[in-house]
Amino acid sequence: MNIHLRENVVPADAAAVRDIVASTGFFHDYEIEVAVELVAERLARGPASGYFFLFAQCDDRVAGYACWGPIACTAHSFDLYWIVVHADFQGRGLGRRLLAEAEQRIAGAGGRRIYVETSGREQYLPTRSFYEHGGYIREATLAEFYGPDDDKVIYLKVVG
Ligand SMILES: CC(C)(COP(=O)(O)OP(=O)(O)OC[C@H]1O[C@@H](n2cnc3c(N)ncnc32)[C@H](O)[C@@H]1OP(=O)(O)O)[C@@H](O)C(=O)NCCC(=O)NCCS
Repeated sequence: MNIHLRENVVPADAAAVRDIVASTGFFHDYEIEVAVELVAERLARGPASGYFFLFAQCDDRVAGYACWGPIACTAHSFDLYWIVVHADFQGRGLGRRLLAEAEQRIAGAGGRRIYVETSGREQYLPTRSFYEHGGYIREATLAEFYGPDDDKVIYLKVVG
């Protein structure tokens, strides 16, 4: 698999992000809209948007992406908002590579603490395994945050 990473965001990325996020079957329609809105924010405001992207390009297809940004009013904490690999490309090391590359960029920008949020539901067990394999520590659980039997799990990795 010939993967090229790029940080610049282009208008076509809105549709690519929609396609990637929808392909996983993991996200509600309103969550897909949020993912696309972050691309629009970045296109409109540039780095001042606070959203930074990394796209994994496989020839003319976008195979996956990560999106992160500094958390306002903190010294060196960052949120990893999205990391998603298209269903056609999962399980081949691309998520791990995107995660490592995003971490490097966050550390390079002065980030020390990377937070990711996910659901505690059974369906998200692979996602939690992915973060745990990546060295993320389960820092907090907010019971029933998303709804009945749907906790928010917050992971943390210290970098830099
Ligand atoms: C989670 C996700 C980003 C992982 O990307 P990927 O390219 O499929 O994962 P990789 O092939 O790079 O695997 C990386 C590690 O995660 C683990 N992992 C990945 N998928 C897994 C699964 N289904 N079950 C258990 N572990 C899994 C692998 O064992 C691997 O561990 P290793 O590095 O020790 O070998 C991707 O599957 C995805 O987009 N899932 C749906 C969306 C999602 O949950 N995103 C995160 C929240 S925004």
